[in-house]
Amino acid sequence: MAEVRLARVNKVYEGRGQQVHAVRDLDLVVENGEFVSIVGPSGCGKSTTLRMIVGLEQATSGEILFDGAMVNELDPQARNVAMAFENYALYPNFSAEENIGFPLEARGIPKQERRRRVRALAELLQIENILHQHPNTLSGGQKQRVSLARALIREPAAFILDEVLGHVDGHLRFQMLFDLKRLHQSLDSTMIFVTHDQMEAIALSDRIAVLHQGRLVQCGTRDELYDTPATRFVADFVGEPPTNFFEVRFAEEGGQGVLHADDLTLQPTPEMAALMRSRGDGRYVVGIRPQNLLCTPRAGTISFDATIDIHEYLGERSILTLRRGRHSIQALASAEGAWAPGDEITLNYRPRDIMVFDAETEALVA
Ligand SMILES: Nc1ncnc2c1ncn2[C@@H]1O[C@H](COP(=O)(O)OP(=O)(O)O)[C@@H](O)[C@H]1O
Ligand SMILES: [Mg+2]
Repeated sequence: MAEVRLARVNKVYEGRGQQVHAVRDLDLVVENGEFVSIVGPSGCGKSTTLRMIVGLEQATSGEILFDGAMVNELDPQARNVAMAFENYALYPNFSAEENIGFPLEARGIPKQERRRRVRALAELLQIENILHQHPNTLSGGQKQRVSLARALIREPAAFILDEVLGHVDGHLRFQMLFDLKRLHQSLDSTMIFVTHDQMEAIALSDRIAVLHQGRLVQCGTRDELYDTPATRFVADFVGEPPTNFFEVRFAEEGGQGVLHADDLTLQPTPEMAALMRSRGDGRYVVGIRPQNLLCTPRAGTISFDATIDIHEYLGERSILTLRRGRHSIQALASAEGAWAPGDEITLNYRPRDIMVFDAETEALVA
């Protein structure tokens, strides 16, 4: 397995007089043995990035390096990167064992050695007992495992998965997340996983890279993205239910800085206020996570009132959707509460849990 590095990589698609700048100045390092997820909305350049790593697409500029060696000019075979797709594409007339061993046979690896490597992977994926079966007798989950094994049998430099769980749901999805995690741990493989689903990324990754409109916005652990999102977009993308955002105006009142969002006034920390004062800029966007809007006051919390619109049960917790003037606000509350639509309740927050973003650039200010 190898370290995968992208340095200032751009991809511009040319076609019918139109240009699409799909990936912009991308710098990304996936360390040897690391599991990195690339996340972002449809069209942000995830698949293009993967295809450039695999060699199915040429970078327009920039360098792609495996263990420090540039691979831009190498074709996909020479790069030895395994890519798993959502559909299994198994050979129907081959047994599971023959399917898994096929890439080795194609490389002239002797039968004994093939057999040994197929068995080892089959054990890891818990499919030893179905190796003699043909694909049409296998369940969806078994086929997926056979196809994972086939992709991994070559001992690739990196293993790349593009939305492989896209149309899988329920129990099977959970099982496959577990399989991938276990494979990663056992094989110590460099894995790059693409998804538009933050929960999948969080469940699997060492680090998460967030792409937005072809640019890398932030790459970090789940906690880094959650606690200090580089932009409003990251704050919105990571965390469930999504962050509440308010367009605010910074003002001085009674010797302290406050944030006005129409008739709702929010209280920043003195440090945040000092920063906003020094910037001399009045307009910001403030984010508060539903987890940080408490229904019971704690030491140092500030409160405001809001009216319950919707109460959704979520196991041990409830999601409240509330109204305050023209704002719709979500808060997490204990499920035991007797929350009823129409009730006015008090929400409490700690000023330090406020996230302040620049109104123009949407970058985190404080
Ligand atoms: N072969 C192609 N030719 C032209 N434009 C493309 C091609 N493939 C992707 N694009 C465009 O590049 C952008 C990024 O696409 P893609 O990498 O597939 O995004 P994602 O996987 O994040 O959904 C999109 O605007 C898409 O329409
Ligand atoms: Mg894609």
